[in-house]
Amino acid sequence: MTDINYEVHPLFAEPFFRGDIGFAISDEQIEYIKNLKMVPNHQNLISENLYIFEEPELKSIKDAVQEALDVFASEVMGIPQRLYVTQSWSLINNPNIGMHGHSHSNSIISGSLYYTDLPAPGSNMIFDRHRAYQQLQFTPQNDKQNIFNTTMNVVTPQRNDLILFSSGLQHFVETNMSSEPRYSIAFNTFIKGKLGDYRDVSELTL
Ligand SMILES: [Fe+2]
Repeated sequence: MTDINYEVHPLFAEPFFRGDIGFAISDEQIEYIKNLKMVPNHQNLISENLYIFEEPELKSIKDAVQEALDVFASEVMGIPQRLYVTQSWSLINNPNIGMHGHSHSNSIISGSLYYTDLPAPGSNMIFDRHRAYQQLQFTPQNDKQNIFNTTMNVVTPQRNDLILFSSGLQHFVETNMSSEPRYSIAFNTFIKGKLGDYRDVSELTL
């Protein structure tokens, strides 16, 4: 306890967006995605097709993802430019398989989509605030964890969740401890429009 009257405010914050796009996903699309040809990835399986949102069968899902990206760009980032999906792929984590820590190169915002039921117990997505090797480990005591000091944050995905996050954020997926496969889709994005200023010679048209 202290006699000091004090306040603590966040200076900056890292957004994580969760939207429900169940309205855009049909049973036929679920079957279509589950039946895509898969090839071995690091530990899990990844679709051979790495532009799955370009397939006409998935148009309604692509449109709903675009709608969410438009909201994220205008309401969260507050920018007039447009985010658009670059690569998009499906993933299967079979029992006892997770996904090691990684971030997404050459992308601004990345996303995950959980298009069908998730097995129980669920495997979470874990975000790590550190992007590089840490020489000093400031580990908060269990009962003192808060938004300022936590090193990791957990997201428990649910069916129809569309999750958006900064592509540079380190994240991993817990090992699938159930006896069923865990299905998901992932994608990257880039930006279209004009950045900078003509007179400042910082103009860049994308
Ligand atoms: Fe990822």
